[in-house]
Amino acid sequence: MKISSLLTASVFALLTLGSAALAADVQVGIVLPTKDEPRWIQDQTRFEDALKTAGFSAEVLFSQGDSAREKTNVETLISKGIKVLVICPQDATAAAAAADAAKAAGVKVISYDRLIRDTAAIDYYVTFDSVQVGAAWGDYLISKAEGKGNNLYFYAGAASDNNAFLFFQGAWQELQPKIADGTFIVRNSDKAASFADKRDLTRDEQSQIIGQITTNWDSNVARSKAEANLTAVGPEAKGTVFIVGPNDGGSRAMADAFAVDKDVKTYYITGQDAEIASIQYIIDGKQSMTVLKDVRTLVNDAIAAAISFIDGKTPDKTMVYNNGAVDVPAKPTPIVTVTKENLKSAIIDSGYWSADKFTGL
Ligand code: GAL
Repeated sequence: MKISSLLTASVFALLTLGSAALAADVQVGIVLPTKDEPRWIQDQTRFEDALKTAGFSAEVLFSQGDSAREKTNVETLISKGIKVLVICPQDATAAAAAADAAKAAGVKVISYDRLIRDTAAIDYYVTFDSVQVGAAWGDYLISKAEGKGNNLYFYAGAASDNNAFLFFQGAWQELQPKIADGTFIVRNSDKAASFADKRDLTRDEQSQIIGQITTNWDSNVARSKAEANLTAVGPEAKGTVFIVGPNDGGSRAMADAFAVDKDVKTYYITGQDAEIASIQYIIDGKQSMTVLKDVRTLVNDAIAAAISFIDGKTPDKTMVYNNGAVDVPAKPTPIVTVTKENLKSAIIDSGYWSADKFTGL
């Protein structure tokens, strides 16, 4: 049997047997934040598809929203002899200890999708262009606004996720001039309103705003926050509303809350991840847009970077991201705005999701 067939066979073995697989077999460990959000199941599935032809053995573990479990996952993978760790942190700062442990064991560390902060132990960052995700939200909402005094509601992801800052930064840099000139009125964050004249916010200023508008990446929190925001304002802050929805799960929950408010006549809401349920919402006119972050590309980038490291080489880089301790090399992947108009070509014709998953296409 050729060595490549043996390795491929061990990938299958590991993916099916999990922890029962032979310890010495695992060359690449992959740690993802949670199974409870469709986004990360997408990554697992796309990894499993891509690993069938990758030529090395790998194991995927989930941290289930728990940094302690994440650290144990990393230790388990180190004990199985991994050469490369691909890790999407649950909490950017807490994950530094896990990255440090891997580095100390001679393992190359690739931060996957979310950047691990405040450690020099990160060798590479595989990511989408997250600032562009936020910019796409801002551009979309601006394209739908007419005249002055449009009602704007901002929401953001978890403050423990560095991406939440990058998404917010991208959205803010587009929307701020339109808040300053009166096109939009921010209705759910007095902090955001107080920075109306400042395009480039410090991390601390972003943090103050995110503290008010975070969904914590949790749909239940998102729904309750939208409901509380709607209860707190009068009908003049409703009518036609523009909502910065930070991810598809949260956006659907908030869309439902805005849709049932009797004073909300029309709403525009953004999202990201091209989740199947949100593509259906877009078809049904219940969510306005999503951002396709083609996870197939991200997975291929992660695998290519892992192979480079295993071969003793350095992966391609086009820029660096500062993680609070060092500049981490990266080659961010572009994103695609998806609306009803381009949904068929962007999602179906590209093979991202098959047409049979949807009704009313
Ligand atoms: C972000 C990720 C998004 C979204 C969100 C919630 O870090 O980039 O795609 O899934 O987490 O899990």
